Amino acid sequence: MDKFKRTLVTTALPYANGPVHIGHLAGVYVPADIYVRYLRLKGREVLFIGGSDEHGVPVTQRARKEGITPQDVVDRYHNIIKKSFAEFGISFDIYSRTTSSIHHKFAADFFRKLYDEGKLVEQESLQFFDEQENRFLTDRDIHGECPRCHNLDAYGDQCEKCGSTLSPDELINPHSKDGHPLVKKPTKNWYLPLNDYQDWLKQWILAGHKEWRPNVYGQCKSWLDLDLQPRAMTRDLDWGIPVPVEGAEGKVLYVWFDAPIGYISNTKELCDNEPEKWGSWQKWWQDPESRIVHFIGKDNIVFHCIIFPTMLKAHGDYTLPDNVPSNEFLNLEGKKISTSRNWAIWLNEYLVDMPGKQDVLRYVLTANAPETKDNDFTWKDYQARNNNELVAVYGNFINRALKLTEKYFSNHVPALGELSDYDRQTLAEFSDCKARVEDLLENFKFRDAQKEAMELARIGNKYLAETEPWKVAKTDMKRVETILNLSLQIAANLAIAFEPFLPFSSEKLRRMLNMESFSWNQLGRTDILPEGHQLGASELLFEKIEDETIQAQIQKLLDTKKANEEQSYKPAPIADTVAFDDFLKLDIRVATVMACEKVKKSDKLLKFTLDDGTGTPRTIVSGIAKQYTEPEALVGRQVCFIANLAPRMLKGIESQGMILSAEDYDGSLSLTALEHAVKPGSKVC
Ligand code: MF3
Ligand code: ZN
Repeated sequence: MDKFKRTLVTTALPYANGPVHIGHLAGVYVPADIYVRYLRLKGREVLFIGGSDEHGVPVTQRARKEGITPQDVVDRYHNIIKKSFAEFGISFDIYSRTTSSIHHKFAADFFRKLYDEGKLVEQESLQFFDEQENRFLTDRDIHGECPRCHNLDAYGDQCEKCGSTLSPDELINPHSKDGHPLVKKPTKNWYLPLNDYQDWLKQWILAGHKEWRPNVYGQCKSWLDLDLQPRAMTRDLDWGIPVPVEGAEGKVLYVWFDAPIGYISNTKELCDNEPEKWGSWQKWWQDPESRIVHFIGKDNIVFHCIIFPTMLKAHGDYTLPDNVPSNEFLNLEGKKISTSRNWAIWLNEYLVDMPGKQDVLRYVLTANAPETKDNDFTWKDYQARNNNELVAVYGNFINRALKLTEKYFSNHVPALGELSDYDRQTLAEFSDCKARVEDLLENFKFRDAQKEAMELARIGNKYLAETEPWKVAKTDMKRVETILNLSLQIAANLAIAFEPFLPFSSEKLRRMLNMESFSWNQLGRTDILPEGHQLGASELLFEKIEDETIQAQIQKLLDTKKANEEQSYKPAPIADTVAFDDFLKLDIRVATVMACEKVKKSDKLLKFTLDDGTGTPRTIVSGIAKQYTEPEALVGRQVCFIANLAPRMLKGIESQGMILSAEDYDGSLSLTALEHAVKPGSKVC
């Protein structure tokens, strides 16, 4: 760390084909933001780069699906994403986009330099072509069976079921999304000869960066243990940055070529706008004293560790990343998050549904961060962590310390008197917290770092619970002064320690403590608030979240699940053939409902009294009570029923036949309806 003068932090540029969700936040943006806030608080020189990835197939796919242009898609989502990041407190110094003219020029120039210096290999190859749509298909557009797990709907670049990275040639029975068969046609493209850089990559990563997270290092190693192949840096598409070479009409830069260059062009955009504040972009990207850290998700590892560094190396002017912290995936209520199936908690919706609760989500996502393995987000856990940790521990401590100071010392910090053994013991637990949290943060262990900060709140809470100043106040006000002085110092420590994790609450707490200036270096000290210091007005730091609020969010997911089931509904296979004579044995008739009521002690059954035309009322018990909650309303309507079924006893009632109803995809039942009224007893055939 110390060999570097400054740190440049980048976060994977999200595709502007949809809003960001909690998976993105947990994997990339929250940890990166914690890291950057920590460095800033330490007074380090740091720059935090974000932006939207606006090219690539996910964008064109979305446009085609919605019948709008790719530009419409990226305009819409870039703005939604940018706004929601800002509201969520992701403290980018710039959030720009890869459709900007600065970026287009920068990426094209980068390509052109590699091209001019002969660093790219021109090659003709056979690519999958959809003759009906008259276009080449990208890996993403090609569907087929996964050769590893035999998922029938894998993509040409990846199987979402088993997570394998694939190439379209590996797919069994490749076809287009709409099922068109594909042909192969020759086309010319420019390749980055990764194979020429393999030894260098091995040296740089496998020998030089053993400190990278095991998941990152491991993925790099498995790539580098195989023979790297040249990789096409251009594509036959019409959405993207035109390839700046004669004879390349109809071709654009590969999205994974242009997007990471977005980190550099966004830096340039910021530095060109405010050179006094940020200096030159070259300072951040080309000075070996700059430390570059890329925060990414695990599906981005190969692009950031192998392909982009090879591009930078081939170019020659750039500093390589020092670390590439990458997380595993976050699941939602036990299922993989999926944009296309709408199985996600979308940040923009969360901010509307849960106003003012940014820090709760930040806290929960860090507490459950998928740092070493995939993890699960559940709304119940979210509620429990808020109510049992943020409210009951951290909030409770702050609330008690401030309320007592208000009551006994009219909101002024009392004097620190003589320390008891217990005071000393409590202080000792605090003394090395700075070193502990720092060590964890510097090593990208955000989950443990936040735990450590929470431990400080626990210590504070325990301190007040055991010293009981509200009781001591009856006999020894001097002692109460000391207890509350120490408690307020602990509160000030918490405001600092939690700033990277829970910036909104820290700001609120600093307001309550009336702390104007503060820095990371004060952490662990017990003289942050001077004696006599006037505190601000106190408010609740966190609020309990009620069951109804959580239930509403769970219901939202259940609705999504239902919509997905509806979409993927496939009728049951047709049963074995029956002979016509067998069919004729069933006597199906129409009856008019004379009375209908719920069967006692059953939530499923309704008892029907029917006029079947015979003159004798017929009783049938039917399991449709869940759908027909007002049985009386059925009186007068006509139903179809099987009249010659052997009677059965149901809940002590003899059921004389069976009423016909249809079972929907979700198991709900619907009575059959007649086109117009007929005489009771009419035959159905
Ligand atoms: N848009 C990509 C994704 O969501 C990430 C791009 S990262 C960049 O997976 F480096 F290319 F910008
Ligand atoms: Zn698979």
